[in-house]
Amino acid sequence: MAVTVTELTPTTGVEVTGLSGGRLVDKAVAEECLAALERRGVVIYREADVDDDDLVAFSRLLGQVVPLPMGGHPTHPEIQRITRDPSKSPLAAYREGTFHWHIDGTTDQVPNKATLLTARQISDDGGGDTEFANTFAAYEALSDTEKLELDGLRVVHSFAASQLLVTPDPSPKERAAWDRNPAREHPLVWTRGDGRRSLLVGATAGEIVDRPPEEGRALLDRLLAWASQPRFTLRHQWRRGDLVIWDNTGMLHRALPYGAASSRLMHRTSLQGEEAVA
Ligand code: OGA
Ligand code: MN
Repeated sequence: MAVTVTELTPTTGVEVTGLSGGRLVDKAVAEECLAALERRGVVIYREADVDDDDLVAFSRLLGQVVPLPMGGHPTHPEIQRITRDPSKSPLAAYREGTFHWHIDGTTDQVPNKATLLTARQISDDGGGDTEFANTFAAYEALSDTEKLELDGLRVVHSFAASQLLVTPDPSPKERAAWDRNPAREHPLVWTRGDGRRSLLVGATAGEIVDRPPEEGRALLDRLLAWASQPRFTLRHQWRRGDLVIWDNTGMLHRALPYGAASSRLMHRTSLQGEEAVA
């Protein structure tokens, strides 16, 4: 089958068709994928139909695969099962958290470089598309004055901030459990070694250092609304077998809500980050 490569929005996304199964597990394909990720943030292999061995093998060609504790996969410790069915994943109860715009691993010093997600079963309730927002493009489009205003600001990221969006009124026990995950401070604007800049915002961003809480909250809300405008976003409607890979450092993402009884089941791997937030 002929391979086609299509750019999806003016700034974001590449869709590849005609590559599937073991044909994906190829050094040249991996190199093209990494280049596309850097340029376009999201790479979609339509109906790639990779099995679990191929998913892990392709992930290894892209970077260092992080083992995912509590992944819920019986034979592959590198694979996390993303589902709301608690019989398939011990983390099912936390999936509602992914309905809010976020970047994975923002409480780590070095957030994951990329995430790979492949659809084993798509949702049967109309929900469960995945959306991406390009925070490189969003930063770039700010005015010089706005960029200057953000210079030097630092943000506290915490698991608790993201959980408050799902459970605004936690019991003291819930709150204590969230707070066992240490918070982390990062610059609001992430400047890469190569000079590219992106906004580090999303569900885990709780407050701005040295700002009154309401004022910090208002700025974080404004920036998230800015970054998630249609002109910076891409929506993926899943077909069974799709493999979607995103630059986790620069793409905010969220699942559109799907029900607790949805058939949706994704297999996911994550790649170790290569650059600390600076
Ligand atoms: C994730 C995530 C989105 C989705 O796995 O980190 O945010 O659409 N997933 O399931
Ligand atoms: Mn995520």
